[in-house]
Amino acid sequence: MTPTVRPPGTAEALPREAYVSQENFERELERVFYSTWQYAGHVSELPAAGSFKRFAVGAADVLVVRAADGRINALHNVCRHRGSQLVSDDTGTCKRALTCHYHGWAYNHDGSLRGAPRMGDGFDKHQFGLRRAHIEIWNGCIFVHLGDGTPVPVRESLADVVWPYADLDRAKVAEIATYEVETNWKICWENALECYHCAINHPELVRVFDQDGDAGGADGGADYVYFVNPLLGDSLSVTRSGHLESKVLFECTTPVDEARGFFQWHTSTFEMVGSPDCIAVTSYTPLAPDRTRITQTFLVPEKAAAGKDYEPAVLFELHKLAREQDNQLCTSVQRGVRNPAYVPGPFNDIYEVENLRFLDVYWKLMADGPERA
Ligand code: FES
Ligand code: FE
Repeated sequence: MTPTVRPPGTAEALPREAYVSQENFERELERVFYSTWQYAGHVSELPAAGSFKRFAVGAADVLVVRAADGRINALHNVCRHRGSQLVSDDTGTCKRALTCHYHGWAYNHDGSLRGAPRMGDGFDKHQFGLRRAHIEIWNGCIFVHLGDGTPVPVRESLADVVWPYADLDRAKVAEIATYEVETNWKICWENALECYHCAINHPELVRVFDQDGDAGGADGGADYVYFVNPLLGDSLSVTRSGHLESKVLFECTTPVDEARGFFQWHTSTFEMVGSPDCIAVTSYTPLAPDRTRITQTFLVPEKAAAGKDYEPAVLFELHKLAREQDNQLCTSVQRGVRNPAYVPGPFNDIYEVENLRFLDVYWKLMADGPERA
């Protein structure tokens, strides 16, 4: 596939190579995942000094680590001695230092080199701190950016998002569900951007979610979309019952019956669905042209106790069910697009408008020229 700008006036899906080609996949890693902000986790996953979480995509591997001063650092997971991967666990706590298993170089939580055994008098440890990635926290969500240069800050890109839950750094992760799906990451995202498929594939969801509803909110512009999540009847949450399924609710800036947010950021393939009792964050990690890890992170208010204030099996059920239904659809699309008979078809101009916006973002990122910050 020769990257170019989406031809004006065309409104169709991507060509086959975009979903199956290893060469295109590697270009995507460079142009998209190493060059845009990516969701790496929530601040509550790093509760104490030394808490860390890995964020790995393609060959890149970064540790987000909380230091003693409370700050969270993004440090490339590569020892500055001979390049060993420093940490292989996905999460954990290193009380005093991140110590390389190979020759014992030890790093502080801010990445500075603490000690390097027997390196001699002329060795200047200040020259060998871990390399840092860009990091920014937006409403409790940790974003990392692996590119060089200075990226446009997340808060600037999302300045117009009026999210009804403004204090999510005091939320906590109640559960993380991961799925490895035999499909291309863009098929997952394209599926997430439209509800044309909902009526026949999500019978439980469409009992509470109004796919034709206009519940207000705002158009987020070219790079993202957010709006008040349109629910049916007196539904207040994305639960099987449509009812709030927790006794402890998030503080919200709008009345509870309007506090339903839906937000998707195309460049980061990051989605949040917010209800007063639960906020579901979904992110996508490409593993191969035909394999994607999907992560659903369920946030609840920090005071909400599982088994007492809410039942996880009830509160998260509909989100998980819809995810599993979507996973089947995405797998099926991957099987179809790898068929040599596949040719791109037209988007529906009512229900698939966001798909075109994503394609514009995608083509722009993939086009030749300077990398986008
Ligand atoms: Fe890490 Fe040698 S490679 S201490
Ligand atoms: Fe769906």
